[in-house]
Amino acid sequence: MALILTLAGSPSPSSRTERLLREVGTRLGREGGHEIRHLAVRDLPAAPLLAADHTHPALREALAAVAAADAVVIGTPVYKAAYSGLLKTFLDVLTRTALHGKELLPLLTGGSRAHVLALDYALCPVLAALGGHAQLRGRFVLDEHLVTEPGDAADGGAGGLGGVGGVRLSGEAEAGVAAAVAEALAARERHSARAVPAVA
Ligand SMILES: Cc1cc2nc3c(=O)[nH]c(=O)nc-3n(C[C@H](O)[C@H](O)[C@H](O)COP(=O)(O)O)c2cc1C
Repeated sequence: MALILTLAGSPSPSSRTERLLREVGTRLGREGGHEIRHLAVRDLPAAPLLAADHTHPALREALAAVAAADAVVIGTPVYKAAYSGLLKTFLDVLTRTALHGKELLPLLTGGSRAHVLALDYALCPVLAALGGHAQLRGRFVLDEHLVTEPGDAADGGAGGLGGVGGVRLSGEAEAGVAAAVAEALAARERHSARAVPAVA
């Protein structure tokens, strides 16, 4: 069983990206039996984040969550043709090898197909600079294909990860996300097979 961190980079309290991340986390947990943890950068205290104060307990805890994860699903909305500034503030406090050896699944949500390439020219290069695999394959999801559902505070929201409600994937988003989840699970299995040498 792997420990998978879903990392949300939207400042919105009703974030579609965060709902998408929770949905992906739920599927990875259900289909792969993995443990899922969630981190929303929005919930971190702003002053220590902007000052890169590694001594602040909340920031230390967040950095430890990244360090402990075997895999990280990183979700951000497209803002002004790139990732959100909020996500960048957190990525900037990571060490330059923080993502080394971890499987990464970058997810971008956006309002226009015109910015689908922000995955390749903005988000993936930053993740590579942090030690992520240079050949990252992420997914871009149009926000019109993320149909929001009301939250249920009693059970912590869809996926059991707290916060806002769930999301239904419509159109091509369902196929794209299902493929991304299947690829992530297959990559994890390959990794586990490499880690455990076969007994003769
Ligand atoms: C400040 C701001 C800037 C945005 N810039 C873009 C953009 O450049 N390209 C794009 O396709 N969508 C852009 N959008 C739309 C969002 O990326 C899209 O609605 C996304 O799904 C929002 O995710 P969220 O609900 O998790 O914040 C922008 C939205 C905001 C609020």
